[in-house]
Amino acid sequence: MSKDKQVPLYERFALELEGQIRAGTFPVGGRLPALRESSVQRKLSMTTVLQAYRLLEMRGIIEARPQSGYYVKFKPKSQALEEEQPQSHGDPTPVSIDDLSMQLIKDTHNRHFAQFGAAFPDPDLLPTSRLNRILAELAREGRFALDTSVYPEGADELRVQVAQRAFSYGCTIKPDEVVITAGCSEALSICLQAICAPGDLVAIESPTYFGILPALEALRLKALEIPTRAGVGLSLDALRFAVENHPVRAVIAMTNFNNPLGSCMSDEAKRELVAMLEERDIPLIEDDIYGELYFSDRRPSVAKSFEKKGGVLLCSSFSKDISPGYRIGWVAPGRYFGAVQRLKMALNNGTSVLPQMTIARYLESGGYDIHLRKIRRAYAQKVMQMSESIEASFPAGTRISEPLGGYVIWVQLPGGIDSMRLYREAVAASITIAPGYIFSPTHRFQDYVRLNAAVWSQRTEKDLARLGEIVHRLLLRG
Ligand SMILES: Cc1ncc(COP(=O)(O)O)c(C=O)c1O
Repeated sequence: MSKDKQVPLYERFALELEGQIRAGTFPVGGRLPALRESSVQRKLSMTTVLQAYRLLEMRGIIEARPQSGYYVKFKPKSQALEEEQPQSHGDPTPVSIDDLSMQLIKDTHNRHFAQFGAAFPDPDLLPTSRLNRILAELAREGRFALDTSVYPEGADELRVQVAQRAFSYGCTIKPDEVVITAGCSEALSICLQAICAPGDLVAIESPTYFGILPALEALRLKALEIPTRAGVGLSLDALRFAVENHPVRAVIAMTNFNNPLGSCMSDEAKRELVAMLEERDIPLIEDDIYGELYFSDRRPSVAKSFEKKGGVLLCSSFSKDISPGYRIGWVAPGRYFGAVQRLKMALNNGTSVLPQMTIARYLESGGYDIHLRKIRRAYAQKVMQMSESIEASFPAGTRISEPLGGYVIWVQLPGGIDSMRLYREAVAASITIAPGYIFSPTHRFQDYVRLNAAVWSQRTEKDLARLGEIVHRLLLRG
């Protein structure tokens, strides 16, 4: 499938407009063609044009002025990461993680470090005081149920909320098809166990969220890396080649906002992905943890909503938007429900009840949508501001992703600088970063780093400038 078919029309038009802004056709401060004008000239519907303008507005590139139109606010300068991800998927590899990921997690506990490494949300953008109030309320009620209602599949109140939420983004799941887990990590790991036996081959995105690699290693599974691109996500052509030539037992994909790329698969691509895998009876473990943190005006769909055979295991959690510390996640495992439920029982008999009930009551009591609107806007701004700062303080030749959601930025260092060298020097200067190595079992992203924009603020701007100086130094040293 060509890239064009995978990208929705409004995103293509937005990309084209952005290219024109980058090229100076529309200078900063200048007015963009009126909506109707663009619609007529480009033969696009008014809705498509409006969606494209809103997408650029969310990304801080243009702004709407009342009764006047849309104006260019910011000219993106960097060479964006687009088609440059590696194209070959390589061979199946046993997964073996060194201590680097563990070290990264350790660094996050050091309060004296500037934390650009781990992908934690901004603590100021979590509804902590409301959660505290609900927690106290539940404790005061002293409900018997809190102590006794431990079920492997989780509290019914929360399962209902998860099903209602899924319905709102076009995915029909019944409450009794949901299993509550200890974060999304446990959901992903249980899904792998439910499907695979040691030695099996799992197709993963490349680059991928490094947290799934220890799970693959612990279960003695092999990984096959499928190229994944900034913008459109998992390459379906490469995946087709992989499933035609290798005994792929399962696929894991972040269909919405791959961590670290921030890419998003279109509806068409998701539909095609599901059809390709259903035809071969290969289950898809879909990680949708960032799905709610979109920058456009529409919640992206999930691949699960296109399935017909119960082979998509949809995983997510409340770690990015409500509380990472509560460790509450969930999975809708389709036809693997029984296997997942038994594994959950074998592992820990069910997730802690108090945090489950607190989140259930938070969701029941309304206000979640308002909270989400606020944090989406905040993260879109932070990503934009941090991107600008990277451009200002890193050497020419640095290339950065343009995430469509989430809050991490993927940066390719200039001159092939080794991200491990940068990591070491940054830690010596009390700054953490996530080196590209850990995003692939074959360590292929050596000259990349992932930076967490959730922590972006005026205070951290200085730390980023210091990081930029280190990159300049490494470039000079060669
Ligand atoms: C893509 C992705 N999946 C899963 C997780 C793990 O989520 P949780 O903290 O809910 O276990 C993370 C955390 O960073 C993530 O980025």
